[in-house]
Amino acid sequence: MAKLVGGVGTSHVPSIGAAIDHAKTQEPYWKPLFDGVIPAREWMNAVMPDVAIVVYNDHASRFGLDLTPTFAIGTADWFAPHDEGYGARPVPACQGDPELAWHLAESLILKDEFDIAMVGEMSVDHGLTVPLSLMFGQPDQWPCRVIPLCVNVIQYPQPTALRCFKLGQAIRRAIESYERDVKVVLLGTGGMSHQLQGERAGLINARYDHRWLDGMVSDPLSLTKIGHTELLREAGSEGLEIIMWLIMRGAMSESVRQIHRFYHVPASNTAYGLLVLEDA
Ligand SMILES: [Fe+2]
Repeated sequence: MAKLVGGVGTSHVPSIGAAIDHAKTQEPYWKPLFDGVIPAREWMNAVMPDVAIVVYNDHASRFGLDLTPTFAIGTADWFAPHDEGYGARPVPACQGDPELAWHLAESLILKDEFDIAMVGEMSVDHGLTVPLSLMFGQPDQWPCRVIPLCVNVIQYPQPTALRCFKLGQAIRRAIESYERDVKVVLLGTGGMSHQLQGERAGLINARYDHRWLDGMVSDPLSLTKIGHTELLREAGSEGLEIIMWLIMRGAMSESVRQIHRFYHVPASNTAYGLLVLEDA
């Protein structure tokens, strides 16, 4: 049977990808951040999943205002990196796992009434590729298969934090009903506090970010009660991405062990957060 072996929460700041791609990770600005990621990378290397389900949001790359699925799962064989305006990142295409992806869709839709969109062709932007680079470095091929799970956190009305948590619970049930003997890791990406434009551009709220990191470990249900207005006020206009971490947390057991936690400011004009969890 398939088994969820752990969950990771990580920001997916695009400039982190650029720092990796342009060999800047050991420069004074970036070294503290990449040093803080090392334990997570070591953990990932030790558990080495067969499949990584990466929960992320598309930043008007594959999707746009003409098509905005609330939840979408990639069922393709391969997912190429998207050209976001500077050429596609020099990272490998992701090999998908269509069989597990379709099983997830079937279980989510027929057993748990999550009407997720199935996407048979999709490129993936920094929201997905940066977390892979953080976890796996710069290999010629990613060491595991990847299932993209895309969430609309861009266009109103976005799903609620509670809905994301419940989706995670449903994904856990789907994984555990999959007959093949595969190890799965679930990544929830995005956040932490940041705002890219307007009068509050550059907003970082460390106190609030730590509240989320604490809650993710010990009291996730309290986070599911947080509304979008509070998130916009406290975490900035792009801080809403953090609700995607709750999909990962919902898939974990009620009680979890914190394997690694790291918080760093600044990463470009955002806060960077990282959390590695295992079932207790
Ligand atoms: Fe993002």
